[in-house]
Amino acid sequence: MALLHDAAPQTATVSETAPTGPSDRGAVPLASGALPVLGHLPAFMHDATGVLRRGYAEHGYLFGLRLAGVSAVVMLDPGHRREILGQPEEALSIAASYPFLKTMFGSDFYFMAETSEYQRQRELYVPVFRGAALHDYLAIMERHTRQLVQRMGAAGELDIVRTCAELNLRIIADTFFGPDLGHHLAGSLDAFERFSANVSFLLPPWMRPTRALRSRSARRQLHTLVRRCLAERRAHPRPTADFLQSLCESRYSDGRPVPDESIVHQALGLVWAARETTSGQLAWALADLLTHPEHRTALLAEQQPLAAAGTTLTMEGLHRLTHLDHVLYESERLHPLAILIARRALRDLHIGSHHVPRGTMVLTSPYLTHRLPEEFPDPEAFRPRRYAEDPKAVQRLLGFGAGVHRCLGRRFARLETKVLVTLLLRHFHMELLDTPTPVTGLAPRGLSGPCRMRYRRRADTA
Ligand code: HEM
Repeated sequence: MALLHDAAPQTATVSETAPTGPSDRGAVPLASGALPVLGHLPAFMHDATGVLRRGYAEHGYLFGLRLAGVSAVVMLDPGHRREILGQPEEALSIAASYPFLKTMFGSDFYFMAETSEYQRQRELYVPVFRGAALHDYLAIMERHTRQLVQRMGAAGELDIVRTCAELNLRIIADTFFGPDLGHHLAGSLDAFERFSANVSFLLPPWMRPTRALRSRSARRQLHTLVRRCLAERRAHPRPTADFLQSLCESRYSDGRPVPDESIVHQALGLVWAARETTSGQLAWALADLLTHPEHRTALLAEQQPLAAAGTTLTMEGLHRLTHLDHVLYESERLHPLAILIARRALRDLHIGSHHVPRGTMVLTSPYLTHRLPEEFPDPEAFRPRRYAEDPKAVQRLLGFGAGVHRCLGRRFARLETKVLVTLLLRHFHMELLDTPTPVTGLAPRGLSGPCRMRYRRRADTA
């Protein structure tokens, strides 16, 4: 029964029947609860973190899952993680692990494309997120966040999930498309949500026909919008290149211009990579901060010199907010948006001493590794101090991936989160009205909405 995408040949042999031998110290134990035929798939789709926790509780750093016709192995050992994330595409494929990206953005989008085309696109994207570019983005992030502070007025209630999603899309739209065109995109949150709602790591699109239809119609809407932006930008080029300008001018290595269809896919692909993840992280950061009010006094004290120095945020000033960094790292640790990082074995291989047959889904998990007591003592506690006590702890965070495909937008996302939390803390007393709960299943593990907060403007910033 082929419920999983047919991205790679399927075998089901890692788990109970993995071969033993000199280079294989034994079978990979299977997490309990597998049903006949479907295995762990229904439970995994309903409550992926519950299944992961159970596998870890039963077997520790290495366990198997059966996801209908596909064998998956979850590997948490630090050495295994490094191997998985450092393997070349021909061995452990990222493209074969996220087949829905092909449906959404075509087969010539980024790591779905041939290696040379992936490299070409990567070279285009990397400068967009370099330090120098972030300086310019900071002004955009601050402007939109201050407008939010303005709109919030003296007191009220808001849903932090929706508010963060809207703010984030405004920021992405202006940073990627330029303030001249960003407004076209900024109002399209609903279209983006419909477009993304059909993403599934495990089920092919035809299993959810209504979502697939809605997603396709949203995709058409977004394509029209991006094409309009392209046409406007070509008619009025910007003197300083931004992401859209770089895309408009991009050419293949033989000099041919990249066709518009491909440019539209790349533009939407990058917005997609940045949107749900970052807005989820913003919302968790606020929720975690409000759930742990004991850090507020220290955070406000740390802000004092910044606020006194003037109204505009600077990179240097934000860099000095180390307590805030630690609070945000702790939020990232306990609430990573990506609970899993997946690769598909395109050939038989070994990871450590374990034989991994071709077709196996090889998984490692930010959600679980962030809770390993050997790496983060007292893992369930919200303890920002751990990063002051052990500065290397931050390097063990895996929420933005690692190795070859480490997230290009991590500094962007962290900066945006810092700006939001800094300005809201400075201007408002805030309290949560709802208990924060995560989105379940295999979607990015954002905060489930609505999650309301009540706020009142601080007297000294009225
Ligand atoms: C909190 C926000 C974000 C989270 C949690 C996140 C998470 C991740 C993760 C886990 C990966 C690695 C995927 C893998 O190895 O399978 C990744 C890769 C990537 N992310 Fe992010 N991301 C975030 C924000 C962004 C932003 C703002 C951008 C900007 C466009 C972005 C662009 C990318 C790109 C282009 C890659 C692929 C890198 C490569 O293969 O060369 N991400 N992200």
